[in-house]
Amino acid sequence: MPDNADIDAVVLVGGQGTRLRPLTLSAPKPMLPTAGLPFLTHLLARIAAAGIGHVVLGTSFKSEVFADYFGTGADLGLEIEYVTEAEPLGTGGGIRNVLSKLRSDTVMVFNGDVLCATDLGAVLETHVAKEADVTLHLVQVDDPRAYGCVPTDLDGRVTAFLEKAPDPPTDQINAGCYVFNRKIIEEIPAGRVVSVEREVFPALLTAGARVFGHVDASYWRDMGTPEDFVRGSADLVRGIAPSPALPGQRGESLVYSGAGVAPGALLIGGTVIGRGAEVGAGARLDGAVLFEGARVEAGAKIERSIIGQGTRIGPRALIRDAVIGDGADIGARCELLRGARIWPGVKIDDGGIRFSTDV
Ligand code: GTP
Repeated sequence: MPDNADIDAVVLVGGQGTRLRPLTLSAPKPMLPTAGLPFLTHLLARIAAAGIGHVVLGTSFKSEVFADYFGTGADLGLEIEYVTEAEPLGTGGGIRNVLSKLRSDTVMVFNGDVLCATDLGAVLETHVAKEADVTLHLVQVDDPRAYGCVPTDLDGRVTAFLEKAPDPPTDQINAGCYVFNRKIIEEIPAGRVVSVEREVFPALLTAGARVFGHVDASYWRDMGTPEDFVRGSADLVRGIAPSPALPGQRGESLVYSGAGVAPGALLIGGTVIGRGAEVGAGARLDGAVLFEGARVEAGAKIERSIIGQGTRIGPRALIRDAVIGDGADIGARCELLRGARIWPGVKIDDGGIRFSTDV
């Protein structure tokens, strides 16, 4: 059994995060504030809590942001190194590209946008017990249709990889966390785009490699869409998704230092108020994510929405299931509903967008 302190962690953070635009125009997805901290902080804190010491970040899009923020990793008790793909190499290519930084024969790989509470030590134990070449964390979900389904046999050995199957034969999905034996990484083709899900894993099955699943029903959420991002952030605030970076957190809201909340404002549903943000009297925020310096004025309602850095939401505006980009200025009484995405810096006049006809 390898000591966790001796194994490497690789975190893939090079994606463009298109589904979270416009927020990802200014920051890569893993750096978006989630319950007030860059999302990646929660994942790195989990890795550190599992006793793993050495982490390699596979970066591409906005690569410099990661090193600027995390530096050597010492603040988290980690040693973090960075490898940048000049052109994105995909998830498999990204893993292959960090090979020169790996020190161990056992490598734990993480998608950098998954909020999860599984016991990482238990995943490693399965890998060792099964003498696997690769072990995937598989999580059981209610509706597996939107994900990569991974059936296993009675011994836990993976039998197929089914991408977004309409009628999946299992509720087990690929949770975006893998244990690799180093020699498998060495065999991934170098210098070209490779998908680990669509190319590497199916090829390993065809070649008869020992690919196993570690199945559980732990908390799991892919933070890739606005809906999931809002839910995941709220779950962190409410303690439904535990994070070692927010020990003991459990509440209806989380208000960061320097934020101002006027009397009579209601903050519920796992709302987070970032540093220096302001909420006016009588505003009602339910499952809202306010980035740093955002301002919500008196009587506005925000439901399940992300409000970018420095954005202003005018008095009595209604924002529901929407994403408002950094620095936007939304006038009084505007109504921005399901699926609305406002680009950074856009100004909408008072009453400029409405779904109702009252004045
Ligand atoms: P969307 O564009 O919204 O699909 O997001 P994404 O670009 O992040 O893609 P996806 O959610 O499928 O990526 C899963 C994980 O792999 C994320 O943590 C990404 O940052 C990472 N990732 C995706 N593509 C690459 C890549 O080409 N290189 C590296 N290093 N990481 C990648």
